[in-house]
Amino acid sequence: MTAASSLPAEVTGAVDALGPWFHNLHLPGEVQTAPDHALGDFPRNKWLVIEPHVPDDLQGWTVLDVGCNAGFYSFELARRGATVHAIDLDEHYLRQARWAAEQLELADRVTFEKLPIYQLAQRPQRYDLVWFMGVLYHLRYPLLGLDIVARKTRRLMMFQTMTIPGEESFMPPDDVPLDQRRMLCDPAWPTMAFIERRVAGDPTNWWAANPSCVEAMLRSSGMRLVTRPAHEVYLCEPGANDGLGIGHLKEDEYLAATQFSPRT
Ligand SMILES: C[S@@+](CC[C@H](N)C(=O)[O-])C[C@H]1O[C@@H](n2cnc3c(N)ncnc32)[C@H](O)[C@@H]1O
Repeated sequence: MTAASSLPAEVTGAVDALGPWFHNLHLPGEVQTAPDHALGDFPRNKWLVIEPHVPDDLQGWTVLDVGCNAGFYSFELARRGATVHAIDLDEHYLRQARWAAEQLELADRVTFEKLPIYQLAQRPQRYDLVWFMGVLYHLRYPLLGLDIVARKTRRLMMFQTMTIPGEESFMPPDDVPLDQRRMLCDPAWPTMAFIERRVAGDPTNWWAANPSCVEAMLRSSGMRLVTRPAHEVYLCEPGANDGLGIGHLKEDEYLAATQFSPRT
């Protein structure tokens, strides 16, 4: 007999009806939503590694959880006192998240909204903490997505993306002469592999970056690396300046891509 089978039929019935689940949420009464997850007790196992790097007291903090899925991280951050705005484009996961918020009695601290990441550009709000885990590689326009959420970040961003093996912390030269482009093939060079078909059966896994590319993209989006709490996880704060004096070029392209009027 499983733990869940001894629980009220309506709870386990709702878990089944709302499945399949990607997040294994621990609900009251020892109900779990995905106890047989291929990644183990996911994402609790990941959270336990990174949570020491998150302020214990988030009272008064606003949090944006991008690609919230069933809300695991939103709930943990809300438990620390934050007011959380959680977005996802998939109504299937949002249904799970809203239902779980009620079960966990956290519905007053977390607001779930169906919103593709790109539409955040149209919103004026900024957040003390942006939680941007497991989404970048699903975007066809990853740097645009990162630029958008970087602009939403007031204090901290917790970032995670799928990577490929490679060097870390590579600082490229200011310029690459046209006839020396071979240096772009250096294994340390920031590189992102484009996935035309699938990884792990998922056709929305578009990109896998090497670690130096992750760091370069974060810098290029104006984020400064604070620490790396776990494999593929980067805690950042606003503040990087690429020193190239091309902020106006980035700004014009950003505005064009996000459908705001270009600067005149
Ligand atoms: C791999 S899951 C990561 C879930 C959670 N952030 C985590 O780290 O466990 C990716 C989530 O991002 C959502 N997502 C993918 N593309 C998105 C987009 N363009 N805008 C908003 N959410 C997106 C998916 O629906 C899915 O729930």
